[in-house]
Amino acid sequence: MAKIQSVRALEVLDSRGLPTVSAEVTLADGSHGGAAVPSGASTGAHEAVELRDGDKKRYLGKGVLQAVGHVEGELARAVLGLDAADLPALDAKMIALDGTPNKGRLGANAILAVSLAAARAQAVSVKLPLYAFLRKAYGLPEDRWLLPTPMFNVINGGKHADSGLDVQEFMVVPTETPSFAEALRAGAEVYQVLKKALAALQMTVAVGDEGGFAPKLATHAEALDVLAKAIADAGYAGKVRLALDAAASEFYHDGSYVLEKKPRSAAELGEVYAAWSAKYGFVSLEDPLAEDDWSGWSALTAKLGERLRIIGDDLFVTNPQRLKRGISEKSANAILIKLNQIGSLTETVACVRDAQKAGFSTVISHRSGETEDPFIADLAVALNAGAIKTGAPCRSERLAKYNRLRQIESALGAKAEYAGGAAFRAAAAAR
Ligand code: PGA
Ligand code: ZN
Repeated sequence: MAKIQSVRALEVLDSRGLPTVSAEVTLADGSHGGAAVPSGASTGAHEAVELRDGDKKRYLGKGVLQAVGHVEGELARAVLGLDAADLPALDAKMIALDGTPNKGRLGANAILAVSLAAARAQAVSVKLPLYAFLRKAYGLPEDRWLLPTPMFNVINGGKHADSGLDVQEFMVVPTETPSFAEALRAGAEVYQVLKKALAALQMTVAVGDEGGFAPKLATHAEALDVLAKAIADAGYAGKVRLALDAAASEFYHDGSYVLEKKPRSAAELGEVYAAWSAKYGFVSLEDPLAEDDWSGWSALTAKLGERLRIIGDDLFVTNPQRLKRGISEKSANAILIKLNQIGSLTETVACVRDAQKAGFSTVISHRSGETEDPFIADLAVALNAGAIKTGAPCRSERLAKYNRLRQIESALGAKAEYAGGAAFRAAAAAR
C-alpha cells in the first residue's frame, strides 16, 4: 500500500491559451502521477463549478491561482497519508471537505486535478497501464476490451467558431471499420478530403477550437451536403456516418429555438432534425434541445430514439441525479461523459455504470479547451464506454487522445475489439 506523500499544483494554459489546473501526486514509494483538467466554452448551467479568480488584472479574470492554492493547501492536507489505491475514499474525502453540492468552495477543477493525478500515481505504483489499473480499481469485469468509436468533429459552429452555423459540431463517425487504427485513418482521410473540398469552394480552412473547419456556409444543409460528399469522395460511403452536437441551449432564447434566424418550438425543431436524419442518416444527435426542456427531450426521444442515439450533454452534465431523471422520463438514450462536469473520477465512473445498466450508450468526451493530457483515452477503454468524442484529427491536444488509443490498441493486441457501429445501437448498450 502506497500512501500519498505530496500533492503539488500549477496554473498552466489550455489549448485556447487560458489558465487551467494541473496537479502532481507523489506516493511514499516514489511513484508519481500528473494530470491537467480541461475547460468548456458551451458549459451547461448545471455543471460543477470551475473556480476562476475573477481578478481582471490577470488573464482577464480567468486565472486559477485560488484553485491551485486549494490543491496545495486544504486538499493536500486532507489527502496526505491516504492510500491512493482507494480512489472512492479519496474522492469522498475531498467532496466532503468541499461541503457544497457543486464543488463551489474548493472548485471542481482543483478536486478533479488531484483525483486524476492520484489515479495515475497509483497506476505507476502497481505497474499497470492506466486503463488496466482503472478497471481493477473500480472492480469492473476484465472480459472485453473495447476500443471506442471515435466521433471526429470536423466542422465547428456555435460557440467554438465564427462560422455562423448555429449547430456546434458536425461529426464523422467510422462505424464500419475493422479496427480503431482504420477508424482513425478513415477520419483523417475524410478530414483531408473535406479540406480540399472547402478550399475549392473558396471557403476558409482555418480551424475552430476543436480542430474542425469553420467555413461560412449559408445553411446547415449545405454543411451536411459538403460533408456527405467528402465521405463519399474519400471512399467511405456507408462506412463513415454523420452525427451532430447541436448544443441547443446556446440558441434557445426566450422560449424558442432560433435556428437559421427563425424562431421554432421544440416540436418544430424536431421536424428539422427528423428531415436531416432521414436524408443524411445520423448515428446520433447530441443536445438537440435546451438543458432544461425535459418534456421536449422526452417527445424527441419518442420520435427519433428508435433510429438514432439521442445524447444528453448539458442535459445530464455527467450527474447521476440528472441521469436518473432522464432514465425514468426516457429523455434520451445516451449520455455524454465529461470528467470536469461533475469534478471527480469516482462520480464519473458511477455515472457511466448507471447509464450502462439502464441500456444507455455512453460517449466519453473532451472539452473545447483541452490540454495534452490523454486521460480520457484510458478512461474510455477502462469503462468499455463504446464511443469517444475528442475533436477533429487535427491539433495535438486532440490527437494526444487518438494517438493514445492507438497505443492502447497496439498494447492489447488480439484482445482489442473495435466498438464500431454497435456503440450506437440499443442492444449493445446494455451490458
Ligand atoms: P464545450 O463543448 O467543451 O465547450 O462544453 C463540448 C460539447 O458541447 O460537447
Ligand atoms: Zn455537447
